[in-house]
Amino acid sequence: MVERALARVADYRRLQEAGLICRSGDFFPSVHYPPITMYPPVEEETFFATYTPPQDGLFDVYAHIPFCRSRCLFCHYPVQLGERSAEKDRYLGALEREMDLSMQLLGLERIKARSVLVGGGTPTYLTLDQLARFLTFFSQRVDLSDCRQFNYDVDPVTLIGDEGLERLRLMRAHGVDRVTIGVQSLNEHVLKQMNRHHGIQETLEAVQNCRDLGFQVNIEFIFGYPGETLENWMEVMELAVSLDVEEIQLYRLKIEAYGDYQGPIKGLCSGKPERLPTLEETIMMKQMAIDLLAEHGYRENLRRVFSRERHHYSHYADNQCCGLLDQLGFGLTAFSSLRDRFALNTQNFDDYYAMIAAGKLPLNRGILRNLEEQMRWAIILPLKNRALWKSYFETVTGGVPFDQAFPAKFERLKEHGLIVEDDEKVELTPLGAFVADEVVQQFHAPEYSPYPAESYADGPLHPHRNWDRVPQAQIPAGQSS
Ligand SMILES: C[S@@+](CC[C@H](N)C(=O)[O-])C[C@H]1O[C@@H](n2cnc3c(N)ncnc32)[C@H](O)[C@@H]1O
Ligand code: SF4
Repeated sequence: MVERALARVADYRRLQEAGLICRSGDFFPSVHYPPITMYPPVEEETFFATYTPPQDGLFDVYAHIPFCRSRCLFCHYPVQLGERSAEKDRYLGALEREMDLSMQLLGLERIKARSVLVGGGTPTYLTLDQLARFLTFFSQRVDLSDCRQFNYDVDPVTLIGDEGLERLRLMRAHGVDRVTIGVQSLNEHVLKQMNRHHGIQETLEAVQNCRDLGFQVNIEFIFGYPGETLENWMEVMELAVSLDVEEIQLYRLKIEAYGDYQGPIKGLCSGKPERLPTLEETIMMKQMAIDLLAEHGYRENLRRVFSRERHHYSHYADNQCCGLLDQLGFGLTAFSSLRDRFALNTQNFDDYYAMIAAGKLPLNRGILRNLEEQMRWAIILPLKNRALWKSYFETVTGGVPFDQAFPAKFERLKEHGLIVEDDEKVELTPLGAFVADEVVQQFHAPEYSPYPAESYADGPLHPHRNWDRVPQAQIPAGQSS
């Protein structure tokens, strides 16, 4: 295992020299394209003026609850901390109103859900009454009769003891069938370093409760964190596989914010690199975890998420990233991805309340993609997360032939062993999957590259170079906006 991990480090260094990965070894998670925070301001009127709901009327629906017990030091999400019961009531009122405003604007009596995700923050960090209130007004507005999966992001503490069980039963009664538990680590020392509000025992109890109540369980971990060593990380992974959950998700620690809010971790580590595992160790942690998971039957299913069965994955993530299907988001920082456009809600609580009180959707940034950006989006998301189907690319771009989409880029990635192509699809190789964010960032327009040109070595895979802009002649009539 160590040998394979060392070979990955060598691959990584080679790809840095080729210009694929930035010199510092930092990374930028490709969650959407263009990257979420690079959007200009947008008004609700312009954004929705030319939008029509999908023909089957189905949406993947997201609701965001931005409250947490305490601040985890790695976290870059804007959240309010502590009990704050009155504030939570106020927020739930605004969220309910936001859903009504959106339904009015789209001319919908109810939103027909294909899948649901409630995320945060800690969306289970509500009193039982508040949780019941939320689930009731949510399911009054969202028709769940065609919903294939109802996901909830949870932390362990809210799921233990009698109250935790009650909370889980309430969620089950409202149709929730999959939970993602923020486990983060199963090492007490590392959990303390993270300022997590739970220890190992609470996590084990929470996982057991979720399994007993029949939820599909996904558990999330962070690697590359201060206090983690190759040895204790592998112990954590051994314990993780022994829990026998359906899915295990791995995140590399992101130190620089990738949204508007910078979490405390950067300040804690700046000038003190000795606190962190080295880049080599972090790469080895990832490769050794992949190998250990494979030994126990867990394979990467949707990117970063490992499962034993192919059908255990997040439908919400798959519909959005591979299906490229329309998705509506509600709440602070939530986003909506609607075919050829993308809107992001404000990250500021006061603005959120004020806009909703004024009868406006709390959007503040967004984009209507032109055809070139649509082509890039239709490559980046499916290629990163599972597979890029050529015929589907042509559908989503209104008929652009796949072989006219950045052919030089695809060739170069093939030469470097990062992708494989057949008549129907393009997929990442195991090496490409290991550096999936960087591979798909090859398809970013230079103005949307996560790092400036000088951050990369001047090699054949420098993401700002060799990019083929789309000649206007290729754009089918009516597709350019
Ligand atoms: C939106 S967060 C919410 C999780 C939930 N509130 C909890 O902590 O239990 C989703 C996941 O992203 C991961 N994550 C958050 N901040 C991160 C960071 N700075 N670097 C890497 N992963 C991070 C964590 O694994 C976290 O569980
Ligand atoms: S990691 Fe989760 S629990 Fe911790 S502050 Fe962030 S959103 Fe809250």
